[in-house]
Amino acid sequence: MADERYGVHDDEVEIERRRLGMLAVARDPRTRRLLDSTGLSSGWRCWEVGAGGGTVSAWLGRRVGPDGTVWSTDVDLQFHRPVLPNVVVEQHDVTSDPVPEAAFDLVHARAVLQHLPERDQVIEKLWDALVPGGWLVAEDGAFASFAEQTLPEPYATVHRYVSSGAISEWRDADYGVRLPGRFRDLGATDIDIIGDVWTMRPGEPGGEWWFLALERAIPRLVEAGLVTAEDGETALALVRAPGFVMMSTVSIAVVGRKPSN
Ligand SMILES: C[S@@+](CC[C@H](N)C(=O)[O-])C[C@H]1O[C@@H](n2cnc3c(N)ncnc32)[C@H](O)[C@@H]1O
Repeated sequence: MADERYGVHDDEVEIERRRLGMLAVARDPRTRRLLDSTGLSSGWRCWEVGAGGGTVSAWLGRRVGPDGTVWSTDVDLQFHRPVLPNVVVEQHDVTSDPVPEAAFDLVHARAVLQHLPERDQVIEKLWDALVPGGWLVAEDGAFASFAEQTLPEPYATVHRYVSSGAISEWRDADYGVRLPGRFRDLGATDIDIIGDVWTMRPGEPGGEWWFLALERAIPRLVEAGLVTAEDGETALALVRAPGFVMMSTVSIAVVGRKPSN
């Protein structure tokens, strides 16, 4: 289990579909503001990396209009929604498949790099895909403070395992913290760093993106002998109890520009 990469088991498909939907409702408004802050306008060529449900790609397609294009890629397209004709949806593994160089005005990746063992090489590929003067926008979590918050047992134990990435050692759950340094190393200009947290409640997108992830992770923790099935069930009931609140991850976004030649 420890070397398993990002992937959805057959019995987890519906949970993952709902989870990506919740993530989109909770996070798309900020993402749209970030992307607009680059001056995004009609005619731009954009690449949405690890597009998931495709809501950001669909929005970009409308934003850049018929003269612009969006390349919407993901290693797994089963959750991607239908989009306008100017959005090209392709199955693509960003770690190994070819990427065009100097082809995009804007490249965006949300909650993708932290999942990839090759994240430091991948961010360089995203950078090389930009035209001079193009913009890179990356969003990733910073899970350390999320993992450390005070929570009731047995959820606290489950939470620490899942949020620290203990069940997937290839993941960097704190890559958001490393993003500003990566942008500096790449030579980005006009760097902007934005972070936020929000209240997580059961039944609301801001909480359910995570509680659905727990539904997927708990059986794996039980299988690995890290928590008992009973504690797993109690933990889930606890976070789904009316009135339960907790703090979200810190979500860090970095916007930076490739210098013009
Ligand atoms: C947490 S989801 C985020 C989805 C979307 N970016 C969002 O924020 O709603 C991570 C996404 O990265 C994709 N992914 C994982 N490994 C990938 C790879 N090697 N190449 C391309 N996409 C990948 C997954 O399939 C999944 O859709």
